[in-house]
Amino acid sequence: MMKKKLIFATGNQNKMKEIRMILADTDFEVLSMKEAGFDIDVEENGKTFEENALIKAKALCEVSGEMCLADDSGLEIDKLNKEPGIYSARYMGEDTSYRIKNANLIKRLEGVPDDERTARFVCAVAAAYPDGRTEVVRGVMEGRIAYKEAGENGFGYDPIFFLPEYGCTSAELSPDEKNAISHRGKAVRLMKEKLTGQS
Ligand code: IMP
Repeated sequence: MMKKKLIFATGNQNKMKEIRMILADTDFEVLSMKEAGFDIDVEENGKTFEENALIKAKALCEVSGEMCLADDSGLEIDKLNKEPGIYSARYMGEDTSYRIKNANLIKRLEGVPDDERTARFVCAVAAAYPDGRTEVVRGVMEGRIAYKEAGENGFGYDPIFFLPEYGCTSAELSPDEKNAISHRGKAVRLMKEKLTGQS
């Protein structure tokens, strides 16, 4: 069977691995930007995760003429008015270590009780087709901000993201365990339903 080409707007190898695993049983062949020979860096100036994912997918689709996917994700902390939100990667500066960012968020929640430490990881995945059509979906993983960092797996804010039903942070889950419940895993699986529904 002739596979349909699909380019994922990321340079992140972990994201590529995850999306390939999820789309392995479809007739889509997923290429990274680099594999497809493109390297775009668009300004993410949207106001929501969905807008930013669409901006990236559309920009890559325009440049490549192929069907493209892009994602945008981040951490929303309820007590902090949903900060860092769409600014998660840029919070306290793009080059600041997550040790420092995570310590800062824990400090900002000092004295805040369990039931007010609610937070969620959000991921929007967008698709852009050469004919101008677009799709966007959202996946969410609910949790709470921990009192201290724990765990070595994952990346970013995982060491402070406590999952009450697992009794550990998302940095203490194995990659497979995390993919099964994560915002990104959920969003990519939802997008898979959309893609295969119309393929
Ligand atoms: P981006 O979608 O690659 O721009 O990522 C946004 C930022 O959100 C990341 O740099 C992390 O700070 C944070 N983030 C998104 N998903 C996760 C996750 O699964 N674990 C930890 N941090 C995450």
